[in-house]
Amino acid sequence: SARPYVIDEMISAKEIAARIEALCRDIRHVFPADERLVVVGLLRGSFVFIADLVRELSDRDVEVDFLEASSYGDAMESSREVRILKDLRGKIEGRNVLVVEDIVDTGHTLNHVIHLLESRLPKQLRTIALLDKPSRREVDFRADYIGFEIPDEFVVGYGIDYAQGNRNLPFIGKVRFTGA
Ligand code: PRP
Ligand code: MN
Ligand code: MG
Repeated sequence: SARPYVIDEMISAKEIAARIEALCRDIRHVFPADERLVVVGLLRGSFVFIADLVRELSDRDVEVDFLEASSYGDAMESSREVRILKDLRGKIEGRNVLVVEDIVDTGHTLNHVIHLLESRLPKQLRTIALLDKPSRREVDFRADYIGFEIPDEFVVGYGIDYAQGNRNLPFIGKVRFTGA
């Protein structure tokens, strides 16, 4: 018995695409052009963002890998307990790594993942998040690159789910509950 809701567009597909172009210009300055970049997506939320990011970086030698760390499950609130459900397939020691996340909320997920990956001694490790909700932070963490800073709204789309739905919307929308 789901509560009825509608989705209001907050950030359009066009705005997202323009922001990704700008972010990739910054990323190119940080990672050497003649070395392979390992782009790590955090499943599942980052799958749309990482797909657009790596295609914008088509001028670079890119390796794609995934890691799954879940804190929310189907709930709307963070459990604050981050579990690694699926580890990377590849080694990152001595390599250039960009970790891709859809949204930083309390910060627990990326904070945990970054500590884990730093322990594997990459040459350079950077983080990028499409969305940042700084007002919700519970740990001192900030991504190196941020697409959009947003207020404390429940957002969906472009990979982000509400109860595992709406990840396939091409824009970022906010959930507005209707009725009683
Ligand atoms: C969501 C989101 C981020 C994380 C952010 O993932 O995709 O990964 O929560 O929250 P935090 O900063 O409070 O840790 P979720 O655990 O819902 O898994 P999913 O990506 O599969 O939806
Ligand atoms: Mn996630
Ligand atoms: Mg989720």
